[in-house]
Amino acid sequence: MSDRLKDDLSSVELEVIRKGLLSATGFDIGNYKPGQMLRLLSTIMARAGAETFQEYLALLKREPQRIEDFKHFITINVSEFFRDKSLFDYLDRSIFPPLLEKFKSLKIWSAGCASGEEPYSVSILLEERLRQKFFDYEILATDIDDEALEKGKIGVFPAKALKNVSPVLKESYFDVIEAPRREQGQSEFKVQEKLKKRITFQKQDLLLPLETQKFHLVLCRNVVIYFTEAAKNQMYSNLAQTLLPGGVLFTGATENLLNYRDFGFEKLETYFYRKPFLK
Ligand SMILES: C[S@@+](CC[C@H](N)C(=O)[O-])C[C@H]1O[C@@H](n2cnc3c(N)ncnc32)[C@H](O)[C@@H]1O
Repeated sequence: MSDRLKDDLSSVELEVIRKGLLSATGFDIGNYKPGQMLRLLSTIMARAGAETFQEYLALLKREPQRIEDFKHFITINVSEFFRDKSLFDYLDRSIFPPLLEKFKSLKIWSAGCASGEEPYSVSILLEERLRQKFFDYEILATDIDDEALEKGKIGVFPAKALKNVSPVLKESYFDVIEAPRREQGQSEFKVQEKLKKRITFQKQDLLLPLETQKFHLVLCRNVVIYFTEAAKNQMYSNLAQTLLPGGVLFTGATENLLNYRDFGFEKLETYFYRKPFLK
Protein backbone atom coordinates (compact mmCIF):
# COMPACT_ATOMS: atom_id res chain seq x y z
CA MET A 1 0.00 0.00 0.00
CA SER A 2 1.20 3.50 -0.73
CA ASP A 3 1.78 5.76 2.26
CA ARG A 4 -0.73 8.30 0.97
CA LEU A 5 -3.36 6.80 3.28
CA LYS A 6 -2.46 4.97 6.48
CA ASP A 7 -4.21 1.65 7.02
CA ASP A 8 -4.80 2.37 10.71
CA LEU A 9 -7.00 5.41 10.34
CA SER A 10 -9.25 6.21 13.29
CA SER A 11 -12.99 5.90 12.85
CA VAL A 12 -13.20 9.71 12.89
CA GLU A 13 -10.67 9.98 10.03
CA LEU A 14 -12.53 7.27 8.11
CA GLU A 15 -15.79 9.14 8.56
CA VAL A 16 -14.21 12.34 7.17
CA ILE A 17 -13.08 10.38 4.10
CA ARG A 18 -16.48 8.69 3.71
CA LYS A 19 -18.39 11.97 3.90
CA GLY A 20 -15.97 13.76 1.57
CA LEU A 21 -16.28 11.04 -1.08
CA LEU A 22 -20.05 10.79 -0.66
CA SER A 23 -20.52 14.49 -1.28
CA ALA A 24 -18.03 14.57 -4.20
CA THR A 25 -19.13 11.35 -5.98
CA GLY A 26 -22.49 10.21 -4.52
CA PHE A 27 -20.81 6.87 -3.70
CA ASP A 28 -20.94 5.69 -0.06
CA ILE A 29 -17.79 3.72 0.81
CA GLY A 30 -19.27 3.21 4.30
CA ASN A 31 -21.09 0.15 2.90
CA TYR A 32 -17.81 -1.51 1.91
CA LYS A 33 -15.12 -3.14 4.08
CA PRO A 34 -12.76 -0.32 5.15
CA GLY A 35 -9.40 -2.12 4.59
CA GLN A 36 -10.21 -3.00 0.99
CA MET A 37 -11.60 0.47 0.25
CA LEU A 38 -8.56 2.26 1.70
CA ARG A 39 -6.19 0.11 -0.35
CA LEU A 40 -8.14 0.89 -3.53
CA LEU A 41 -8.42 4.56 -2.66
CA SER A 42 -4.71 4.77 -1.98
CA THR A 43 -3.95 3.29 -5.41
CA ILE A 44 -6.36 5.55 -7.26
CA MET A 45 -4.97 8.63 -5.47
CA ALA A 46 -1.45 7.62 -6.46
CA ARG A 47 -2.55 7.23 -10.10
CA ALA A 48 -4.19 10.65 -10.01
CA GLY A 49 -0.98 12.14 -8.57
CA ALA A 50 -2.71 13.31 -5.37
CA GLU A 51 -0.46 13.40 -2.31
CA THR A 52 -3.23 13.85 0.25
CA PHE A 53 -6.89 13.00 0.48
CA GLN A 54 -7.81 16.70 0.41
CA GLU A 55 -5.86 17.08 -2.85
CA TYR A 56 -7.74 14.14 -4.30
CA LEU A 57 -11.10 15.60 -3.25
CA ALA A 58 -10.19 18.90 -4.91
CA LEU A 59 -9.33 17.00 -8.11
CA LEU A 60 -12.68 15.19 -8.05
CA LYS A 61 -14.47 18.51 -7.76
CA ARG A 62 -12.41 20.22 -10.46
CA GLU A 63 -12.50 17.39 -13.01
CA PRO A 64 -15.90 15.61 -12.98
CA GLN A 65 -14.66 12.83 -15.30
CA ARG A 66 -12.57 11.64 -12.35
CA ILE A 67 -15.80 10.75 -10.53
CA GLU A 68 -16.58 8.01 -13.06
CA ASP A 69 -12.93 6.88 -12.97
CA PHE A 70 -13.21 6.63 -9.19
CA LYS A 71 -16.40 4.55 -9.33
CA HIS A 72 -15.00 2.34 -12.07
CA PHE A 73 -11.83 1.64 -10.12
CA ILE A 74 -13.48 1.10 -6.76
CA THR A 75 -16.02 -1.43 -8.13
CA ILE A 76 -13.98 -4.34 -9.36
CA ASN A 77 -15.71 -5.79 -12.39
CA VAL A 78 -13.89 -8.95 -13.30
CA SER A 79 -16.22 -11.53 -14.81
CA GLU A 80 -16.40 -14.30 -17.37
CA PHE A 81 -19.00 -16.40 -19.16
CA PHE A 82 -20.37 -19.30 -17.06
CA ARG A 83 -18.33 -18.27 -14.04
CA ASP A 84 -18.20 -21.38 -11.79
CA LYS A 85 -19.29 -23.63 -14.60
CA SER A 86 -20.66 -26.40 -12.32
CA LEU A 87 -23.10 -23.90 -10.75
CA PHE A 88 -24.33 -22.77 -14.16
CA ASP A 89 -24.76 -26.48 -15.01
CA TYR A 90 -26.88 -26.82 -11.88
CA LEU A 91 -28.90 -23.74 -12.86
CA ASP A 92 -29.55 -25.27 -16.25
CA ARG A 93 -30.26 -28.80 -15.05
CA SER A 94 -32.13 -28.28 -11.80
CA ILE A 95 -33.44 -24.71 -11.57
CA PHE A 96 -34.72 -23.87 -15.06
CA PRO A 97 -36.89 -27.01 -15.64
CA PRO A 98 -39.19 -26.48 -12.61
CA LEU A 99 -39.26 -22.70 -13.15
CA LEU A 100 -40.29 -23.17 -16.78
CA GLU A 101 -42.82 -25.81 -15.82
CA LYS A 102 -44.50 -23.38 -13.46
CA PHE A 103 -44.04 -20.07 -15.30
CA LYS A 104 -44.28 -19.82 -19.08
CA SER A 105 -42.50 -16.50 -19.22
CA LEU A 106 -39.44 -15.77 -17.06
CA LYS A 107 -38.25 -12.42 -15.76
CA ILE A 108 -34.61 -12.57 -14.73
CA TRP A 109 -32.37 -10.00 -13.06
CA SER A 110 -28.59 -10.07 -13.16
CA ALA A 111 -27.81 -7.68 -10.29
CA GLY A 112 -24.18 -6.52 -10.50
CA CYS A 113 -23.78 -7.77 -14.06
CA ALA A 114 -20.35 -6.18 -14.76
CA SER A 115 -19.86 -6.17 -18.58
CA GLY A 116 -22.67 -8.61 -19.28
CA GLU A 117 -20.89 -11.97 -19.21
CA GLU A 118 -23.40 -13.24 -16.64
CA PRO A 119 -26.69 -12.21 -18.30
CA TYR A 120 -25.38 -13.34 -21.70
CA SER A 121 -24.52 -16.76 -20.16
CA VAL A 122 -28.07 -17.09 -18.83
CA SER A 123 -29.44 -16.09 -22.21
CA ILE A 124 -27.35 -18.76 -23.96
CA LEU A 125 -28.75 -21.47 -21.65
CA LEU A 126 -32.32 -20.33 -22.30
CA GLU A 127 -31.83 -20.02 -26.06
CA GLU A 128 -30.61 -23.63 -26.06
CA ARG A 129 -33.78 -24.69 -24.22
CA LEU A 130 -35.91 -22.72 -26.67
CA ARG A 131 -34.80 -25.12 -29.38
CA GLN A 132 -36.95 -27.79 -27.71
CA LYS A 133 -39.86 -25.92 -26.22
CA PHE A 134 -41.42 -22.49 -26.61
CA PHE A 135 -41.44 -20.02 -23.71
CA ASP A 136 -40.62 -16.37 -23.27
CA TYR A 137 -38.01 -14.63 -21.16
CA GLU A 138 -36.38 -11.25 -20.59
CA ILE A 139 -33.31 -10.27 -18.62
CA LEU A 140 -32.60 -7.06 -16.76
CA ALA A 141 -28.86 -6.51 -16.27
CA THR A 142 -27.80 -3.80 -13.83
CA ASP A 143 -24.57 -2.47 -12.41
CA ILE A 144 -23.34 0.67 -10.71
CA ASP A 145 -20.47 1.11 -13.18
CA ASP A 146 -21.28 3.03 -16.41
CA GLU A 147 -18.17 1.82 -18.21
CA ALA A 148 -18.97 -1.84 -17.53
CA LEU A 149 -22.58 -1.33 -18.68
CA GLU A 150 -21.38 0.32 -21.89
CA LYS A 151 -19.15 -2.69 -22.62
CA GLY A 152 -22.09 -4.99 -21.91
CA LYS A 153 -24.24 -3.17 -24.45
CA ILE A 154 -21.52 -3.40 -27.08
CA GLY A 155 -21.04 -7.10 -26.30
CA VAL A 156 -17.48 -7.69 -27.54
CA PHE A 157 -15.34 -9.97 -25.34
CA PRO A 158 -11.77 -11.25 -25.34
CA ALA A 159 -11.21 -14.99 -25.82
CA LYS A 160 -10.24 -15.47 -22.18
CA ALA A 161 -13.72 -14.40 -21.02
CA LEU A 162 -15.11 -17.32 -23.05
CA LYS A 163 -12.90 -20.08 -21.68
CA ASN A 164 -15.96 -21.92 -20.30
CA VAL A 165 -17.93 -21.61 -23.54
CA SER A 166 -17.89 -24.77 -25.67
CA PRO A 167 -16.91 -24.50 -29.36
CA VAL A 168 -20.49 -25.38 -30.35
CA LEU A 169 -21.96 -22.58 -28.26
CA LYS A 170 -19.30 -20.14 -29.49
CA GLU A 171 -20.27 -20.97 -33.03
CA SER A 172 -24.00 -20.54 -32.31
CA TYR A 173 -23.97 -17.29 -30.35
CA PHE A 174 -20.86 -15.27 -31.27
CA ASP A 175 -19.28 -13.72 -34.33
CA VAL A 176 -15.51 -13.81 -34.36
CA ILE A 177 -13.66 -10.54 -34.86
CA GLU A 178 -10.29 -11.64 -36.16
CA ALA A 179 -7.30 -9.68 -34.87
CA PRO A 180 -5.23 -8.17 -37.71
CA ARG A 181 -2.43 -10.68 -38.39
CA ARG A 182 0.37 -8.16 -38.19
CA GLU A 183 -0.77 -7.03 -34.71
CA GLN A 184 -0.61 -10.63 -33.46
CA GLY A 185 -3.47 -9.86 -31.10
CA GLN A 186 -6.10 -12.30 -29.91
CA SER A 187 -9.41 -12.60 -31.72
CA GLU A 188 -12.46 -11.15 -30.00
CA PHE A 189 -16.00 -12.46 -29.85
CA LYS A 190 -19.13 -10.41 -30.47
CA VAL A 191 -22.42 -11.69 -29.06
CA GLN A 192 -25.17 -12.10 -31.62
CA GLU A 193 -28.35 -10.07 -31.76
CA LYS A 194 -30.54 -12.99 -30.62
CA LEU A 195 -28.94 -12.69 -27.14
CA LYS A 196 -28.72 -8.90 -27.13
CA LYS A 197 -32.40 -8.38 -27.83
CA ARG A 198 -33.31 -10.28 -24.63
CA ILE A 199 -31.23 -8.09 -22.30
CA THR A 200 -31.76 -4.55 -21.03
CA PHE A 201 -28.71 -2.94 -19.42
CA GLN A 202 -29.49 -0.33 -16.79
CA LYS A 203 -27.64 1.54 -14.06
CA GLN A 204 -28.59 0.59 -10.51
CA ASP A 205 -26.88 0.92 -7.12
CA LEU A 206 -27.80 -2.16 -5.11
CA LEU A 207 -27.35 -0.23 -1.89
CA LEU A 208 -30.09 2.24 -2.76
CA PRO A 209 -33.80 1.31 -2.86
CA LEU A 210 -34.12 -1.47 -5.39
CA GLU A 211 -36.12 -2.42 -8.43
CA THR A 212 -39.86 -2.46 -7.96
CA GLN A 213 -40.25 -5.13 -10.65
CA LYS A 214 -40.61 -8.77 -9.56
CA PHE A 215 -38.47 -11.61 -10.85
CA HIS A 216 -38.46 -15.41 -11.14
CA LEU A 217 -34.69 -15.56 -10.91
CA VAL A 218 -32.20 -13.08 -9.46
CA LEU A 219 -28.47 -13.60 -9.88
CA CYS A 220 -26.37 -11.59 -7.47
CA ARG A 221 -22.90 -13.08 -7.67
CA ASN A 222 -19.51 -11.84 -6.53
CA VAL A 223 -20.91 -8.40 -5.78
CA VAL A 224 -21.09 -8.43 -1.98
CA ILE A 225 -17.52 -9.57 -1.31
CA TYR A 226 -16.47 -6.07 -0.29
CA PHE A 227 -19.73 -5.07 1.40
CA THR A 228 -19.91 -4.74 5.19
CA GLU A 229 -22.05 -7.36 6.94
CA ALA A 230 -24.81 -4.78 7.49
CA ALA A 231 -24.85 -3.66 3.84
CA LYS A 232 -24.85 -7.30 2.69
CA ASN A 233 -27.81 -8.22 4.92
CA GLN A 234 -29.75 -5.14 3.85
CA MET A 235 -29.16 -5.97 0.21
CA TYR A 236 -30.19 -9.64 0.48
CA SER A 237 -33.31 -8.62 2.32
CA ASN A 238 -34.12 -6.12 -0.46
CA LEU A 239 -33.41 -8.74 -3.13
CA ALA A 240 -35.78 -11.17 -1.41
CA GLN A 241 -38.54 -8.57 -1.84
CA THR A 242 -37.95 -8.48 -5.59
CA LEU A 243 -38.53 -12.24 -6.01
CA LEU A 244 -41.93 -13.67 -6.88
CA PRO A 245 -43.13 -16.60 -4.75
CA GLY A 246 -41.22 -19.62 -6.08
CA GLY A 247 -38.48 -17.34 -7.44
CA VAL A 248 -34.80 -18.22 -6.92
CA LEU A 249 -31.73 -16.27 -5.84
CA PHE A 250 -28.41 -17.52 -7.29
CA THR A 251 -25.32 -16.30 -5.38
CA GLY A 252 -21.57 -16.46 -6.02
CA ALA A 253 -19.44 -19.51 -5.27
CA THR A 254 -18.06 -17.94 -2.07
CA GLU A 255 -21.41 -16.54 -0.99
CA ASN A 256 -22.99 -19.34 0.99
CA LEU A 257 -25.96 -17.69 2.76
CA LEU A 258 -25.86 -19.30 6.21
CA ASN A 259 -28.65 -17.00 7.44
CA TYR A 260 -30.93 -17.56 4.41
CA ARG A 261 -33.95 -18.04 6.73
CA ASP A 262 -33.54 -14.44 7.96
CA PHE A 263 -34.48 -13.29 4.46
CA GLY A 264 -37.41 -15.71 4.19
CA PHE A 265 -35.62 -18.12 1.83
CA GLU A 266 -35.58 -21.88 1.72
CA LYS A 267 -32.37 -23.53 0.57
CA LEU A 268 -32.53 -25.57 -2.62
CA GLU A 269 -28.78 -26.16 -2.81
CA THR A 270 -25.79 -24.15 -1.61
CA TYR A 271 -25.83 -20.89 -3.62
CA PHE A 272 -29.49 -21.37 -4.68
CA TYR A 273 -32.22 -20.02 -2.40
CA ARG A 274 -35.96 -19.94 -3.09
CA LYS A 275 -38.68 -17.66 -1.91
CA PRO A 276 -41.40 -20.14 -0.82
CA PHE A 277 -44.60 -20.51 -2.86
CA LEU A 278 -47.68 -19.00 -1.26
CA LYS A 279 -49.61 -21.62 0.75
C1 LIG B 1 -16.79 -8.95 -9.55
S1 LIG B 1 -18.08 -8.23 -10.48
C2 LIG B 1 -19.21 -9.60 -10.59
C3 LIG B 1 -19.82 -9.73 -11.96
C4 LIG B 1 -20.70 -10.96 -12.14
N1 LIG B 1 -21.86 -10.90 -11.29
C5 LIG B 1 -19.92 -12.22 -11.87
O1 LIG B 1 -20.18 -12.93 -10.90
O2 LIG B 1 -19.01 -12.53 -12.66
C6 LIG B 1 -18.83 -7.19 -9.28
C7 LIG B 1 -19.74 -6.15 -9.89
O3 LIG B 1 -20.50 -5.55 -8.84
C8 LIG B 1 -20.67 -4.19 -9.14
N2 LIG B 1 -21.01 -3.47 -7.92
C9 LIG B 1 -20.24 -3.19 -6.85
N3 LIG B 1 -20.92 -2.46 -5.94
C10 LIG B 1 -22.17 -2.29 -6.47
C11 LIG B 1 -23.33 -1.62 -6.03
N4 LIG B 1 -23.37 -0.98 -4.87
N5 LIG B 1 -24.42 -1.65 -6.83
C12 LIG B 1 -24.41 -2.29 -8.02
N6 LIG B 1 -23.34 -2.94 -8.51
C13 LIG B 1 -22.23 -2.94 -7.74
C14 LIG B 1 -19.32 -3.79 -9.71
O4 LIG B 1 -19.42 -2.60 -10.49
C15 LIG B 1 -18.95 -5.02 -10.53
O5 LIG B 1 -19.32 -4.87 -11.88
